[in-house]
Amino acid sequence: MCGIIAYAGSEPVTPILVSGLRTLEYRGYDSAGIGVQNGDGKSAVTRALGVDDLAEAVSGQDWNGGAEPTVGIAHTRWATHGGVTIPNAHPHTSAEGRVAVVHNGIVENYIALRTELSDAGYLFSSETDTEVIAHLIARRVESGESLAAAVRCAARRIQGASSFVATSAAEPGVIVGVRLGNAGGIVVGIGDGFNLLASDVLAILPHTDLVVYLRSGEMASITASGAEYSDLSGMVLERSPARISRNFEAAARGEYPHFMAKEIAEQPEAVSSAMRRRVDFENGVVDLPELPYTDDEIRLIDRVILSGMGTSLHSCMYGAQMIEAVTGIPAQAENASELRYRSTSLNERTLVISVTQSGETADTLAAMDLATQSGAKQIALVEAEGTQATLVADGTLYLGAGQEIGVASTKTMMCSLTVLYQLAVYLGIHRGTLSAKRAIKLVSDLSRLPGLIAEMIDDDDHCEQLAHDRLGDKRHLLYLGRGALHPVAMEGALKMKELAYIHAEGYPAGEMKHGPIALISDDMPTVALAPQGALYDKMVGNINEVKARGGEVIALATYGDTTMPGLTDEVLWVPEAPEWIVPMITLIPMQQLAYHTSVALGHNPDKPRNLAKSVTVE
Ligand code: F6R
Repeated sequence: MCGIIAYAGSEPVTPILVSGLRTLEYRGYDSAGIGVQNGDGKSAVTRALGVDDLAEAVSGQDWNGGAEPTVGIAHTRWATHGGVTIPNAHPHTSAEGRVAVVHNGIVENYIALRTELSDAGYLFSSETDTEVIAHLIARRVESGESLAAAVRCAARRIQGASSFVATSAAEPGVIVGVRLGNAGGIVVGIGDGFNLLASDVLAILPHTDLVVYLRSGEMASITASGAEYSDLSGMVLERSPARISRNFEAAARGEYPHFMAKEIAEQPEAVSSAMRRRVDFENGVVDLPELPYTDDEIRLIDRVILSGMGTSLHSCMYGAQMIEAVTGIPAQAENASELRYRSTSLNERTLVISVTQSGETADTLAAMDLATQSGAKQIALVEAEGTQATLVADGTLYLGAGQEIGVASTKTMMCSLTVLYQLAVYLGIHRGTLSAKRAIKLVSDLSRLPGLIAEMIDDDDHCEQLAHDRLGDKRHLLYLGRGALHPVAMEGALKMKELAYIHAEGYPAGEMKHGPIALISDDMPTVALAPQGALYDKMVGNINEVKARGGEVIALATYGDTTMPGLTDEVLWVPEAPEWIVPMITLIPMQQLAYHTSVALGHNPDKPRNLAKSVTVE
């Protein structure tokens, strides 16, 4: 997704902006640009199709007057309106280059605004929706208004969710940023003799750990010496910076060839962190002080909806099954992009649980808005601190996974499963549906999770060999699972699609004979999730059906299973584990198979094509 970084200070600005853009690359992007104030009344704009090219282009620049500029804005673009071209890359400027803008999100009414501005004589040089913002601001600045007032007017005219940052030659040294809705955040970084604006706190952390997160409808105006806050009516806001604790070094790849490999390996530690201060292993109790509900309120809940997108939706599917099993409350997982537009009967007895590692996914946030309007109770499971989902929810359960740089979610999913597990136990205890004995057993099962994950990770070589020998040359794959392993099968297929670009389908195994079975051939291997459990025999039946049609089967089975080796072509072993832990540990080979197949095919698993870490547009 698009990224923004802007700096006002006294240091040469281009190296700061370039390194900020490099930090933002992980979000996914297709072009980049920088606009600096170089003293000649214009923003000097440089754009390129990659940050490396951009860095090279700006390093050779001869700035006006010889002095290095110290104020500038920069952007990584993820194309929405208009192709991936240099003219469409940001910053966009007014005709004379006096106003420059970088923007995340979509201007929904840009066609009407473009027509209005064109009729008024403004010339457009890109196909983007963003360019209308530059002209709207320029029109106000030309009529003598301050940059902040002009940004405020532009913000009121545009429809849809956007965040943007602007400069004007009429006010050198000033940068104004605004957040409208949920198109990615704006974070203000407060320094000593400098200040920053960014879409992502990671780009700010190398400079300062004092930050202010803008809420929707808020603006910040920064200079080298200060930051002022206001809303869209012009009312001045008092905002105190908070000190954030994030270990930037943890983002370094270390000994691993890819961030994804590192993040898969970090999962034992990540799940331990997701349990820290919440699980009392000695007494078999889960405490979630972040949740504001009384036991009476929890007893009144008559429906649970879990909402998310992509990998987070798969976590929701697991969470729905466990919560319903443990609490007896009807629970269902919903794709947030569908939920947001559906006529629903949510009410104050409904608990909506939104899962989003970024906390900024547009569809998930829109579904949360729907829940707010219906008076439902709301919990968010989020990785990124201070993001919009955390502001909307009644209570936030942070995942504690640590920064995930690989675009594809791995450890954040594992942590969301871990937190959903804890939430199920917590709700069961506080609703009175879970006996003390059963709660102690579930908590003790959870204590085995880090060790079981570590065991699985150590067994990575077999996945690597399978990726090379069996999967790399395939164009299609089928993943089958039942019960809480169905979402894991869906996730395995999603990972294979996004990282190895191999067509893969995840199905509940029982559905196979209702259609997908027609695809079975020696060209479409099946990954069958068949560890020991209540539905094991059913899976054996499905595997037989695939084999009878000439299909190749890679099974996941529990150590000691003597049937699988004779029945299937390959077996990936999982240790014996408790019922609700099995899906979590089975996730590891799903990640590893996709990772190694991606690498075997020469792709970069950290930056899959067309994908973004944070999807802040619909
Ligand atoms: C896949 C992946 C995506 C995200 C989805 C939701 O590896 O990462 O499918 O899970 O875009 O993102 P969040 O969790 O940030 O709401």
